[in-house]
Amino acid sequence: MKNFLSIKDLTRDEIIDILDTSCRLKEERKSSKTGEELRKKTLLLLFEKRSTRTRISFEVAMNELGGTSIYLNPADTQLGRGETIGDTSRVVSRYVHAIAARVNDHQRLIELAENSTIPVINALSDLEHPCQLLADLMTIREEKGRLEGLRLAWVGDGNNVCNSAILASSLTGIKIRVATPKGYEPDQEIVRDGRRLGGNITVTDDPREAVKSADIVYTDVWTSMGDEEEREQRLIDFKPYQVNRELLEMAKDDAIVLHCLPAHRGEEITDEVMNGPNSRVLDQAENRLHTEKALLLRLLEPETINTQIP
Ligand code: CP
Ligand code: NVA
Repeated sequence: MKNFLSIKDLTRDEIIDILDTSCRLKEERKSSKTGEELRKKTLLLLFEKRSTRTRISFEVAMNELGGTSIYLNPADTQLGRGETIGDTSRVVSRYVHAIAARVNDHQRLIELAENSTIPVINALSDLEHPCQLLADLMTIREEKGRLEGLRLAWVGDGNNVCNSAILASSLTGIKIRVATPKGYEPDQEIVRDGRRLGGNITVTDDPREAVKSADIVYTDVWTSMGDEEEREQRLIDFKPYQVNRELLEMAKDDAIVLHCLPAHRGEEITDEVMNGPNSRVLDQAENRLHTEKALLLRLLEPETINTQIP
């Protein structure tokens, strides 16, 4: 694997390997053990959209593996004056060892990757958010001890995170039921890809049907970055899709609630559920750090990752 643009760039076994390595790194961090595996390596973070978790977790990951990172907003680079993504990619390939890019249009990631000689990581595009799903799978496995056969209910927008959740579930044997209002369904090609990978995928407009007997209830904002002009209409369309106590009661008693964050409390999720006993949103956010370390090792120093798996 050179690039990580989609969760389906990994096989099931590669995902499991990354999760095992992430668990080891999480344990080692508790005893203040940090690595030097990425000494003298530099990650470029090229972000067209805002970020809290992704930027910080990648920067800390590089630091704790002995490397360094550079954060750039394209407006501050020559990209902002019209230098092409291809030229930029060919040039930065001569300086840094990997690029994590957050882009408005997934096509720009593809162009970046096609022109680079170094790994390109999708740090969120309009189509997918694969780094998020690595952390989510880790969180689910920590809680449930397995992935295969679990039921995940996605409630809300069929957006980038939902698309990656469909593919991640399909690859790992999680049964996914997606409930979105009509017109906000996940990408059809992603659903087809998921089914080709053996996925058990249901798409409905009924949130209660999706959540019934679920082991995991996952939601995300109703208005993603880039969709702001539609916000007023979306607030109306998504109203019946709020993850609240009443909806959560349809799930299994020990269901966990996930949200990739940032959340709009009181819209897609209530304070009560977000702060409640089923919520694992902070573990999810923490696990971004551990899974991104494992991903960076896999891309930059693959021979180091299979040591001391617990
Ligand atoms: N979940 C996530 O990617 O958060 P940020 O937008 O803060 O990076
Ligand atoms: N779907 C959200 C995820 C943010 C991490 C967005 O794209 O804005």
